[in-house]
Amino acid sequence: MLVISDIKVLRATVRAWRQAGQTVAFVPTMGNLHSGHFKLVDEARQRADRVIVSIFVNPMQFGANEDLASYPRTLTEDCAGLTEHQADAVFTPTPELMYPRGLAVQTAVEVPKVGDKHCGASRPGHFRGVATIVSKLFNLVQPDLALFGKKDYQQLAVIRQLTTDLSFPIEIIGIDTERAADGLALSSRNGYLSAEARAKAPLIYQQLQWLRQQISHGFADFRALEQQVADTLSQAGFRPDYIHICDRQTLELADSNSKPLVILLAAYLGTTRLIDNLEV
Ligand code: PAJ
Repeated sequence: MLVISDIKVLRATVRAWRQAGQTVAFVPTMGNLHSGHFKLVDEARQRADRVIVSIFVNPMQFGANEDLASYPRTLTEDCAGLTEHQADAVFTPTPELMYPRGLAVQTAVEVPKVGDKHCGASRPGHFRGVATIVSKLFNLVQPDLALFGKKDYQQLAVIRQLTTDLSFPIEIIGIDTERAADGLALSSRNGYLSAEARAKAPLIYQQLQWLRQQISHGFADFRALEQQVADTLSQAGFRPDYIHICDRQTLELADSNSKPLVILLAAYLGTTRLIDNLEV
């Protein structure tokens, strides 16, 4: 597997693939790869001749009080895993390469509306950072398709919107969430959890399943259901950020007439922020 940290080499590599008539699939990540990430790589492998992954802990999408400094960086293990999953190349730029003039003067991509609510409201500037780096990476790699996890449901919606709005000729593919045996969605941030917190964390997915059951049994007061889950999580020691039953297309808060639905949830356990979701 090629390890590329230079833009000229990146462009030349992809150009050579294209000239050979090969299709290119792209999987952007922040590293510390787990089987959720590798599921995207395996799916990319199925769908294209060439698979390129990026590993970049993007400073632009972290808030001032968030975990940029402590975010796990495990490049050696990540490259071993990517070789095993038959990626052709990994692009590992530095912040200086991506933002040579500094973040304060970086041109940015805003995705209004779909990026404003939920995580966008709790983490101001987060989706601006995601949209900007993904746009830059799309311009650098110019893949035929790009794969993203449904684990980050709103992020996937933001990326679909920017791809349409900025006319990137890239097919966006959403992949189902990979979970631990007890239901917890795999995430690089799960490593922050103490043993006690890790044992509690599956309650999130249990509550999402409970909500889905209530909705399919016809319980129509969605705001009351959301409150009930917030109370249950609080009593168990979580600090709920939001629980929102949404219209799956617009990600606007839904009422019982909207269909199809998705439940979006974010909650803190100690200082760790966990997100998850479930389609209904
Ligand atoms: P990261 O959190 O590393 O995730 C990279 C990709 O893996 C995302 O598309 C994410 O949705 C997917 N993913 C993470 N956990 C998953 C799981 N349990 N099952 C399936 N897919 C999963 O998301 C980012 O990085 C960044 O915001 C990025 C898009 C790379 C921009 O910086």
